[in-house]
Amino acid sequence: MGKRVVVVGTQWGDEGKGKITDYLATKADVVVRSQGGNNAGHTILFNNKKYALHLIPSGIFNPNIVNIMANGMVINPKALLVELEMLKNKGITDFKLFISNRAHVVMPYHIELDEVYEKLKGENKVGTTKRGIGPAYADKVNRIGIRIVDLLNKKTLKNKIRIALEPANILLKSQKMPTFKEEELYEEFFEIGKILKKHICDTSVLLDNLIKEEKNILFEGAQGTMLCLDHGTYPFVTSSSPTAASISLNTGISAKMIDEVIGVTKAYTTRVGEGVLVTEFEDETARTIREVGHEYGTTTKRPRRIGWLDLVVLKHVKRINGLTGLCIMLLDVLTGIEYIKICTGYMLDGKIIDYIPADYLEYQKCIPVFEVFPGWKEDITHVKSLEELPENCKNYLKSIEDYLGVNVAIFSVGPDRLQTVTLKNIF
Ligand code: GDP
Ligand code: IMO
Ligand code: MG
Repeated sequence: MGKRVVVVGTQWGDEGKGKITDYLATKADVVVRSQGGNNAGHTILFNNKKYALHLIPSGIFNPNIVNIMANGMVINPKALLVELEMLKNKGITDFKLFISNRAHVVMPYHIELDEVYEKLKGENKVGTTKRGIGPAYADKVNRIGIRIVDLLNKKTLKNKIRIALEPANILLKSQKMPTFKEEELYEEFFEIGKILKKHICDTSVLLDNLIKEEKNILFEGAQGTMLCLDHGTYPFVTSSSPTAASISLNTGISAKMIDEVIGVTKAYTTRVGEGVLVTEFEDETARTIREVGHEYGTTTKRPRRIGWLDLVVLKHVKRINGLTGLCIMLLDVLTGIEYIKICTGYMLDGKIIDYIPADYLEYQKCIPVFEVFPGWKEDITHVKSLEELPENCKNYLKSIEDYLGVNVAIFSVGPDRLQTVTLKNIF
């Protein structure tokens, strides 16, 4: 019987989903990206080579794997061509890649509109990746989006671009930004459609067949649950839902099909962009974590904000996703820190709470309540089993498990594929 496993980000993204997807892909037959676009940046390291993927699923390095970019994604076709070129230049040419004909297209005007909306929001800006993600999803909801299938029909493409471009150009013009010409856009994007045609199909049908063939399927989340449009720290979120529940909608498979939901969690917390990070701190220790963990955005190169692990967040995320296992990542980065903190509650108006307030102004007022753990000094980057971890490190993992009632399935002690320890077989 094939198994369907979801890899979900449990914080604000960059938890190490790319590394875990690539690692688990050795036992999978299919890897699917289901939401987001090239706002994602997934880093993978093996054989001393580092790869950064933004759109293409992390199963691409294994020629036997079927990689799918499903209908819930917003795809910038130009960025996709750049990524395919990058893989070619690194010698990755033997792969299977399918793109949903129902996925939406990020157009050049979406990128400019992303810039405009951020500018208009002023100090309330979201701090987006400026990849046009929000405006592309907004057009989808507004029913003026361009879909991948439209790239294959010049007449439809022309018509759809005309409809979408009119309001976009009005806003761009009002902000003295460059506007776009319908003819130039459809000529260019029709040509790109021709290049991508061999990859385009109905991926819902493809997935259904793969399920019937009892294949192991891995769903690679992008972003993290706290950036979810519905369950995250709205409005400081992305424009899709990076949760397990979104898989069915975003890929066109039945909601009954998910067997496991693996939550990928940093041993601490990071965030890029604006919005509250209750456990955030900026001192010598934070700077060390940033340098040792290379905490600079894969997509935008922005320094990531650093916070201690927040179990209130993880509890919220466990409930929403129904986590069946945890992957604790970047454990090695905490080596050498004398005292490590874990947030177990928030102080709000003199009361301790253990939930995320829906009202953003209330969330801003929350003060973290910490438990303090003695750290460890031993190098753990070559550890191959739980037993080899220092006692204090084991205690740290155990406390997370105890609080959440979810077991650690995998822990990671370095960026390389080999620096990964499995405690529970997922496939
Ligand atoms: P993603 O967006 O969730 O795929 O995560 P990113 O790739 O954006 O960020 C995670 C970063 O941590 C990358 O630079 C990884 O190479 C790195 N990484 C992943 N796991 C580990 C680990 O266990 N230890 C260390 N030191 N780095 C790791
Ligand atoms: P991966 O898949 C971290 C953040 C942005 C911003 C907010 C909205 O690598 O974990 P957007 O461009 O999506 O409209 O920006 O979401 N963001 C991410 N942060 N990792 C990501 O992806 C992210 N994708 C978006 O920084 O705060
Ligand atoms: Mg990332």
